[in-house]
Amino acid sequence: MNKFATVIMAAAAAALLVTGCSKSDSSKIKVGFSQVGAESDWRKASTESIKGEAAKRPNIELTFSDAQQKQENQIKAIRNFISKGVDVISFSPVVSTGFEDVLKEAKEAGIPVVLFDRAVDVSEDGLYVSFIGSDFVEEGRRAARWVLENVGENANVAELVGTVGSAPAIDRKKGFEEIIKDHPGIKIIKSQSGDFTRAKGKEVMESFLKSPEADQIQVLFAHNDDMALGAIQAIEEAGKKPGQDIKIVSIDGVKTMFEAILEGKANCTVECNPLIGAQLFDVVEKIHAGETVPARIPSQEGVFDSKNITKEVVDGRKY
Ligand code: AHR
Repeated sequence: MNKFATVIMAAAAAALLVTGCSKSDSSKIKVGFSQVGAESDWRKASTESIKGEAAKRPNIELTFSDAQQKQENQIKAIRNFISKGVDVISFSPVVSTGFEDVLKEAKEAGIPVVLFDRAVDVSEDGLYVSFIGSDFVEEGRRAARWVLENVGENANVAELVGTVGSAPAIDRKKGFEEIIKDHPGIKIIKSQSGDFTRAKGKEVMESFLKSPEADQIQVLFAHNDDMALGAIQAIEEAGKKPGQDIKIVSIDGVKTMFEAILEGKANCTVECNPLIGAQLFDVVEKIHAGETVPARIPSQEGVFDSKNITKEVVDGRKY
């Protein structure tokens, strides 16, 4: 290689270093998003909503990272977004504690953070700008109210808990227990985590059905539809009728659960809306324009059972 070529290559390398080796377009709003994983149909719909909405907006440059349900991957991704100098960071936290340090690092770097779907538990104010998502405590309350209204004052409940330490698992349990505490005939007789997945939901339900309390279980409260769908399989394999021998109430409102309710294999699903990608990028654009955004942006949700699920409702369901 001649001297001139070497100089040109060195200059090109230096230019790349200055621009951070990226092909990034400076006219776009750079957003780093860290997703929990792909543990449920709900989560897959959430990811599609985020990516689909970003693709529709020419002013958004999205860097998406999948944490595979591990907090350490999520912290690494957020640090990476900070060092890349993105304009806004957003993430759906795997668990609710342990994010304080990395949130402080984002704040020191002057990068606003928007929490998406799940909140964090932090002792200091101002570590994030806004939280867009569901009211998980209310979802738990709605599930318990459905049991009271449709099963009655006496019911032995088996509970499939979500990912240990995650906001939806903590809050849905809290909401459910808040309602049943005034109804002593409703008792949680089994409770274990199924990590929000269909496979674990099935495995834990199998163990409930082999336990000495198996024949006392009248209601299954699953913190999400995927675990309930796994449990339905376990109940059928144990020779019982899901939806009849054991009433099933869960949370999310995914299409497969609607179908199970139509078939009579499940009874109720409390909606948790994953299609909030548009709300996220509306907020991102406002923050970028220097506008003030609300600290809490709730999603709109309903409760579905055999009274309001029809084939048309199922066919029109987007997730
Ligand atoms: O944070 C929302 C919860 O996470 C959904 O209920 C569940 O399906 C998902 O894994």
